[in-house]
Amino acid sequence: MAKRSHHSYLIVGGAGYIGSHVVKALVERGDQVVTLDDLSKGHRAAVSGGQFITGDLGDRQLLGEIFTTTPIDCVMHFGAYIEVGESVHKPLEYYRNNTAKTTDLLLAMKEHGVDRFILSSTAAVYGEPQRMPIEETDPTAPTNPYGHSKAFIEQILHDAEAAHDLRYVALRYFNAAGADPSGTIGEAHHPESHLIPLVLQVPLGQRDHIAIFGTDWPTPDGTCVRDYIHVNDLAEAHILAAQRLLDGGDSATYNLGCETGYSVKTIIDLAREVTGHAIPAQEAPRRPGDSATLVASSARIKAELGWTPQYDDPKAIIETAWRWHQGHPRGYEGGGD
Ligand SMILES: NC(=O)c1ccc[n+]([C@@H]2O[C@H](COP(=O)([O-])OP(=O)(O)OC[C@H]3O[C@@H](n4cnc5c(N)ncnc54)[C@H](O)[C@@H]3O)[C@@H](O)[C@H]2O)c1
Repeated sequence: MAKRSHHSYLIVGGAGYIGSHVVKALVERGDQVVTLDDLSKGHRAAVSGGQFITGDLGDRQLLGEIFTTTPIDCVMHFGAYIEVGESVHKPLEYYRNNTAKTTDLLLAMKEHGVDRFILSSTAAVYGEPQRMPIEETDPTAPTNPYGHSKAFIEQILHDAEAAHDLRYVALRYFNAAGADPSGTIGEAHHPESHLIPLVLQVPLGQRDHIAIFGTDWPTPDGTCVRDYIHVNDLAEAHILAAQRLLDGGDSATYNLGCETGYSVKTIIDLAREVTGHAIPAQEAPRRPGDSATLVASSARIKAELGWTPQYDDPKAIIETAWRWHQGHPRGYEGGGD
C-alpha cells in the first residue's frame, strides 16, 4: 500500500452503522478522529477510537468549539435519519435533521475555514430509474422525503462550492451490508428495515419467518433485485474520496455499489447456506414505493479513484454480518461490549 500522511477528520454520525466502520478504518490507519453524534440512533460502544463528543450536528456553537480546538482537514457526514417509510410520515423532521442541520454544519465549516466535505448520499436520489445500471449522470428524481432530503443537500453543496472555498464528494451508496470481519462492530438499527439483518433475525430466534414483499416484480425470480455493498468497502471509498480532496482534487459525485444485483430470494438462500437454518419465508404483497431493480454503475469511482470492492460476493458479506449478529444478538445493548 502506498505511504500516506496522517490527517484529522470530524466524523458526524460516527456512532452509527456506516460511520463507525469508517471511524475504525481511520483510527487503524493512525489518523486523528473526532466523532460527533447525538446518539439518537447510534451507539457509543460502536466508536472504537479517537475522541467522542455527544452533540447535535446543527449546534453551530459546539461545532465552532470543535473546529477551534482541533484543526480538521476533512468532515465526513453520516448523520441523518434514514427510514424511507418514516420520512413519508415525518417529512418535516427529515428535512430539518437531514437538510437544514447540514446547512448549519456547512456554515460552521465556512466560519472556521474547514473546506473539505464528504456526504453520505444515497441511491434514493434516483427515484424510479430509467435504465440499469444507474450512472451518476442519470436524472435524479426522488420519490420520498428521505431521497429529497439528500438530493437537496447535493444541490446545496453544488451552490456552496460555487460561492465559497468548499470542495466535496457526494457518495451515493446502494445497499450497505455486512460488518467488520473482526465481529466487534456491525449493523444495529432500531427498528431494523434492511434485508440481511432482518433475515438473520430468524436463525437468531428473534422472528419466526422473513417476509418477501412482492413476488410478481419484473425480475428473474419475481422478487426485488438490489446491489449490496460491504460496509468496509464503503469505508475504503471514503478514505479515497478524502484523499482526492486532500490532494487538491475537484468536487465529485460517485455511485457506490458492486454493480451486480441479487434478488431477495437469492439473499435468503445464501443466508440459509451461511447459517445452516431453514429460514422460513412468507410471500407478502408489494410495498408501495419499492422499485423492481436498483443496480449501480460504479465505473466512475473505479476509474477516477481506483476503488475496488473487496467483497463482491454477497455470501461473504452475509458471513461477516452473521459473525457480528451471533456475537451481539441484541446489538450493542446487553453486554458483549
Ligand atoms: N444504511 C444504508 O444502506 C444507507 C444507504 C444509503 C445511504 N445511507 C446514508 O448513510 C448514512 C449513515 O447510515 P447508517 O446506516 O449508518 O445510519 P445510522 O442511523 O446507523 O447512523 C446515523 C448516525 O447519525 C446520528 N445522527 C442522526 N441525527 C443526528 C444529529 N442531528 N446530530 C448528530 N448525530 C445525528 C445517529 O445517532 C446515528 O449514529 C446516512 O446519512 C444514510 O442516509 C445509508
